[in-house]
Amino acid sequence: MTVRHRIAVIAGDGIGQEVVPAAVECLDAVAARHGVTLEWHHLGWGSDHYRAHGRMMPVDGLDTLAGYDAIFLGAVGVPDIPDVETLWGLLIPIRRAFAQYVNLRPVRTLPGVPSPVAPSGGIDLVIVRENNEGEYSEIGGRIYRGSADEIAIQESVFTRRGVERVARFAASLAAGRRGLLTSATKSNGIVHTMPFWDEVVRDVLAGFPGVTMRQELVDALAASLVLHPERYDVIVASNLFGDILSDLAGAVAGSIGCAPSANLNPGGGQPSMFEPVHGSAPDIAGQGIANPIGQIWSGALMLDALGHPAAAAQLVAAFEGALASGTRTRDVGGTATTTEVATAVVTHLDKQPPH
Ligand code: NAI
Ligand code: MG
Repeated sequence: MTVRHRIAVIAGDGIGQEVVPAAVECLDAVAARHGVTLEWHHLGWGSDHYRAHGRMMPVDGLDTLAGYDAIFLGAVGVPDIPDVETLWGLLIPIRRAFAQYVNLRPVRTLPGVPSPVAPSGGIDLVIVRENNEGEYSEIGGRIYRGSADEIAIQESVFTRRGVERVARFAASLAAGRRGLLTSATKSNGIVHTMPFWDEVVRDVLAGFPGVTMRQELVDALAASLVLHPERYDVIVASNLFGDILSDLAGAVAGSIGCAPSANLNPGGGQPSMFEPVHGSAPDIAGQGIANPIGQIWSGALMLDALGHPAAAAQLVAAFEGALASGTRTRDVGGTATTTEVATAVVTHLDKQPPH
């Protein structure tokens, strides 16, 4: 009997249009080998939709998405539309409407992909970014625009419920790995929200005796992630800190083009969304040279979340095999095109031991 999942696909802008089809090809290939059917529903949302209709997605877009088992997103953002329209018109409403409060970003050394700064390699960490509140709030405003008296104010929002649930997720993840949780803070400079974050994380950790918690100031943590990335296991961070640390960690591991992410609704009552860490990369869009690994790996995270860990593991092993055999895009030192990488990944699926 085959298991069927309905997936909403938003390829979006720029290289999203190139890496999503590449990943869909790989996902179909691995799914077929595991008796899983992925029913893709392509939604033409993004900046072209915005140019035609003045919105990134239809008015009832969130209602449409609510009916799917998962959302597979490429990237949004183009140089001629303000990022605030593209991100707040699509990405951020989806994360919030479906309580995708965990943004999970694994970072690992991949075969054949040298780290530009950590020659020893051996990086294997996961960043758990709070995804619904924190610094990315809508509370604030600007007055006296354009005058010398102009004021801009933006409030951060940290709730006990919000910090607790992301800390609990991160702690249980650490408990199943090497048992080390690093909490990114800045309680020496940000004197209300960050001491609160620290307190709540500490309270949650009291329920995880097997997990060691280390609190690090985010600036020092950033430097340390460059110099000693192998020292980290799970890092839990607020929305902004997690965003910055995950781009940094992705680059340290080799290329942002390889970095995946999952926006998880851990309760599973609403769809989760899977997307690479990178954006639409307008500087290389349309050339067929974008690295599809971040998108493919995000697809593996989706298979895992949909209850197919063996298929997910086979896909990861296949792209690692493709990278190791030298089929790599330019950003990771190769000459292959996006589609050549996808083909190599499919070829390597059959080289994995059967599950
Ligand atoms: P970016 O991630 O698109 O690109 C940064 C650099 O990394 C560029 O030099 C790009 O060529 C390179 N790069 C990124 N992905 C790559 C891949 N798969 N293969 C090879 N090279 C890759 O970030 P940038 O330039 O700051 O943003 C471009 C647009 O994307 C903006 O409009 C931004 O708002 C949007 N964006 C959207 C995101 C999303 O949809 N989740 C996330 C980040 C940015
Ligand atoms: Mg980012």
